Amino acid sequence: MALRFLFSILTLSLVMLGLANCSNAGKIVIYWGQNGNEGSLAETCATRNYEYVIIAFLPTFIPTQNPMINLAGHCNPQSANGCMALSSDIKFCQSKGIKVLLSLRGDKGSYPLESTQEASLVATYLWNNFLGGNSSSRPLGPAVLDGIDFDIEGGSSNQHWGDLARYLKGYNGKKVYITAAPQCPFPDAWLGNALTTGLFDFVWVQFYNNPSCQYNSDEFNNFEQAWKQWTLDIPAKKIFLGLPASLEAAGSGYIPVGNLTSIVLPAIKGSSKYGGVMLWSRYYDVLSGYSSSIKSYV
Ligand SMILES: *[C@@H]1O[C@H](CO)[C@@H](O)[C@H](O)[C@H]1NC(C)=O
Ligand SMILES: *[C@@H]1O[C@H](CO)[C@@H](O)[C@H](O)[C@H]1NC(C)=O
Repeated sequence: MALRFLFSILTLSLVMLGLANCSNAGKIVIYWGQNGNEGSLAETCATRNYEYVIIAFLPTFIPTQNPMINLAGHCNPQSANGCMALSSDIKFCQSKGIKVLLSLRGDKGSYPLESTQEASLVATYLWNNFLGGNSSSRPLGPAVLDGIDFDIEGGSSNQHWGDLARYLKGYNGKKVYITAAPQCPFPDAWLGNALTTGLFDFVWVQFYNNPSCQYNSDEFNNFEQAWKQWTLDIPAKKIFLGLPASLEAAGSGYIPVGNLTSIVLPAIKGSSKYGGVMLWSRYYDVLSGYSSSIKSYV
């Protein structure tokens, strides 16, 4: 009897330990869409390596400027059916519990949001064409995406991105995830204001192409301080470590698997804000196998 009781307690403890481990485990986020040789979206999701897949990119999104998605060699948005065939892949990913988001890429070539009203127009456009709204010309077909990612790296203004997030969060219906991919120097030049709103669910910080704050074994302190600042100062639900998926994926900031698993992850996983690792991009991950190598450590 006593032995059986002990056994039950032991089983219960193991189950609870398992649950605890599970809920604390970090997730892997991948950007897909900028290389036709990276395999399909469905193949990407079928690996089960990723919890969030970010479709990259929608480089123009102001309704009056003919927004057009860019998915490199995957599909031609200007052809008759454009990229609409992606709908079944998106639904396949979602059926596996994977969240699929669309990334707004703002850089030097794109226009800034001029006003709160323009932010509202962009939100309406995104809602009707990619989220729970409707439109006769949805670029990715009828699939309803899980949210919008802000990868704003230029343009001539850092204003009104918070307004856009607020409008997107204001729609009724299926939850709209709002995420962002700022650079690690704090605060981010373009999204700094928006990120203080508390409207962002997840923030994947680009700890690459940024020597002042990315991991460097000689000056580990810079990286640690930057991580601390992001996790303490940004009121998002989770902060992710954004990394190149291979040496070739970025100008700098690649972390060899061994350094990541033995030095970097142990230093940041203690934070309650730690969400996992974001990788740029699926193409480089296919070549390197990085996500498979780090998965059990993230
Ligand atoms: C979207 O659906 C609503 C309600 O079904 C309808 O009133 C509206 O005209 C539709 N809009 C478009 C752009 O199709
Ligand atoms: C990985 O860690 C070792 C030991 O700290 C260090 O010598 C090496 O430079 C690191 N590699 C990189 C790319 O930072």
